[in-house]
Amino acid sequence: MANNAHERVVVLDFGGQYAQLIARRVRDLGVYCEIKSYKTDPEELRDCKGILFTGGPNSVYAQDAPLCSKEVFELGIPVLGICYGAQVMAHLLGGTVSSSEVPEFGKTMTQFKNDSPLFQNVGESVCWMSHNDYISQLPEGFTASAWSAHCPAAAMENRERKLYATQFHPEVEHTQQGQQMFHNFLYNICGCAGDWEMKSFAQETIAAIRERVGDKKVLCGLSGGVDSSVAAMLVHKAIGKNLTCIFVDHGLLRKDEGDMVEQVFKKEFDMNIIRVNAADRFFSKLSGVTDPERKRKIIGEEFVRVFEAESEKLGKMDFLCQGTIYPDVVESGTGQAAVIKSHHNVGGLPEDIGFEGLVEPLRDLFKDEVRRVGLELGIPSQLVWRQPFPGPGLAVRIMGEVTPEKVKLLQEADAIFREEVANAGLERSVNQYFAVLTANRSVGVMGDGRTYGVTVALRAVTTTDFMTADWAHLPYDLLGRTSNRIINEVEGVNRVVYDITSKPPATIEFE
Ligand code: XMP
Repeated sequence: MANNAHERVVVLDFGGQYAQLIARRVRDLGVYCEIKSYKTDPEELRDCKGILFTGGPNSVYAQDAPLCSKEVFELGIPVLGICYGAQVMAHLLGGTVSSSEVPEFGKTMTQFKNDSPLFQNVGESVCWMSHNDYISQLPEGFTASAWSAHCPAAAMENRERKLYATQFHPEVEHTQQGQQMFHNFLYNICGCAGDWEMKSFAQETIAAIRERVGDKKVLCGLSGGVDSSVAAMLVHKAIGKNLTCIFVDHGLLRKDEGDMVEQVFKKEFDMNIIRVNAADRFFSKLSGVTDPERKRKIIGEEFVRVFEAESEKLGKMDFLCQGTIYPDVVESGTGQAAVIKSHHNVGGLPEDIGFEGLVEPLRDLFKDEVRRVGLELGIPSQLVWRQPFPGPGLAVRIMGEVTPEKVKLLQEADAIFREEVANAGLERSVNQYFAVLTANRSVGVMGDGRTYGVTVALRAVTTTDFMTADWAHLPYDLLGRTSNRIINEVEGVNRVVYDITSKPPATIEFE
């Protein structure tokens, strides 16, 4: 769709954990960037302005080490190899990669050759190293352009062929001048113009949807989350009332959230929204169920049933709109990770329910870009900056059986915590924070009487990718105020604890 109109840079993924970070850095600099497998046919790369190689866990000499085709270097397109990607370049072009006696890991003071196009306006500074192997002999035609105490070729280049490589990771924050290096690569070496911006993305996408859909009808599952909201809004701007959104309220949302979603989209934006209040159905299916995975499965299946039943009433719909975003696309393409929890993304509906096609206007965007588009479209910042919320909702934050009473209790406790975090001005710096209703009961004393109440746990984490997370070091007075208020305002709670476990070993949610 929209991206065809833009200049393009490609990240070839050699299995590094930072492929998405590299792509985001490039996009932040105004250049559209895609992630492709290292096996990509070089012919498919001919139209791009630049190519970046990621790092990776392998050694170029290992059996089955991922290596790209040598033809990539013959395209005349600038290449920047990073870490393992640098070693791939050296190895394939006739240099030597050896195993170091002293592996370099962490922040490393690095010096640069001043006249290197990659290091314009970059001075001696800290770079992030993480490698066992190193380039011991440069390929013919290359010179070293940076060095550190243990790495004689922390970077190498062949200016004539526009081939560049860094042993360090310019994409991570610890590399102090990494963004300047990407800027140099994109603008000085690749000659990019920088035509990627969210304002034009929104306009182009709306026009493309209008052209594709014409006067046909689109159905969308709206959850109130950022992705489905922004996707629905783009389609709404394109085709107005020919979009119908179904908002399944499973009764497991946070306090007042269902009303807020309805208010914003129905009243303020005049969208065609059907809110299905299906809490009773969900509660009766969940009655007596305590196993976390079963809870998740039941909610996922019930969601699809409710959605299907509702959409049948609407008659024929031609397209289904979904809020798929780029990390979903990349992860489902390469992901080998073990299943720790089955993530039923509410809104993630089976594709075979009889549509002519899918409309996925955010397929090319990262989350921060989705937010920028949302703001561009006038969606309130409260919704745009909404923290992630699991599809199965509060059911995975209530340990054990889910009942309407427990949901009500948790909603109150959670609302207090959120309010206090907001009052402390920490809404944006803590990436996810919520209350959990544990299955624990304990003895307490209130007034002169003994209590035997439930324990609420508070969870707050900082993270960039939600794959790993640190527990947030919230100020004690914030925790103290929240605890007091929950005990005083939420009946039945007599103990509040704070979770100080990172992920791993814990997960962010409790179930
Ligand atoms: P965990 O608990 O696995 O969570 O560390 C990682 C992130 O994913 C969110 N999460 C979900 N999101 N459907 C979703 O859309 C789900 O079933 C689900 N379960 C967990 C969780 O809130 C955190 O941000």
